[in-house]
Amino acid sequence: PTAAAWQRVDRYLADTLVGHDDTLEQAVADQNAAGMPAIEIAPVNGKLLHLLARMTGARRVLEVGTLGAYSTIWLARGIPADGRVVTIEAEPANAAVARANLDRAGVGERVDILLGRAAEVLPTLEGQEPFDLVFIDADKESNTIYLDWAARLGRPGTVVVVDNIGRDGRVADRDTTDPQVIGVRQGLEMLADDPRFDATAIQTLDAKGWDGIAIALVV
Ligand code: DHB
Ligand code: MG
Repeated sequence: PTAAAWQRVDRYLADTLVGHDDTLEQAVADQNAAGMPAIEIAPVNGKLLHLLARMTGARRVLEVGTLGAYSTIWLARGIPADGRVVTIEAEPANAAVARANLDRAGVGERVDILLGRAAEVLPTLEGQEPFDLVFIDADKESNTIYLDWAARLGRPGTVVVVDNIGRDGRVADRDTTDPQVIGVRQGLEMLADDPRFDATAIQTLDAKGWDGIAIALVV
């Protein structure tokens, strides 16, 4: 299909099933105004994360990569008011925008933004109650590190979602030298080989282009 065709379908699906929400749209507008990259997940995928949180009955959600908290708002709205989203962001300026967006969305009290490199922050979460749902959406080079922590901080039954596993089709280039694509491929191979996981992945064509998500179960 042409880009125009699938973009039209994505708009139709988003209009029909996701709808419009001033708070979410303002979060994206403020993120853009702050000069942050427009790499938040598409509305249809935000709704997917939200539904996964509800379908799994998640009370504790871990997110790696907050950006402006667009996905964080979707996740926080999918857990009970006394649940917790812990989201990790390396860039202080992003975290400030995220905090304002979460507070305006009315979910600020159930979200902790932890500032720092996720590889350094994740070990500090050991010993807490396990996370029920984990969303990995940060520097792709570190996906295997984040998956390892998702398994360690989860429990059998924890659901793990990894964003951006398609990368305009480049994921299938076995000779790629792009470190992000290499990181994505290593993450997928880990999901296949590591006995702590069972997983699949789907390509996506949406407002953010041709990409994909992996969905894994901690076994
Ligand atoms: C990029 C990162 C993302 O998480 C995403 O969804 C899209 C693009 C990037 O780094 O280019
Ligand atoms: Mg992403």
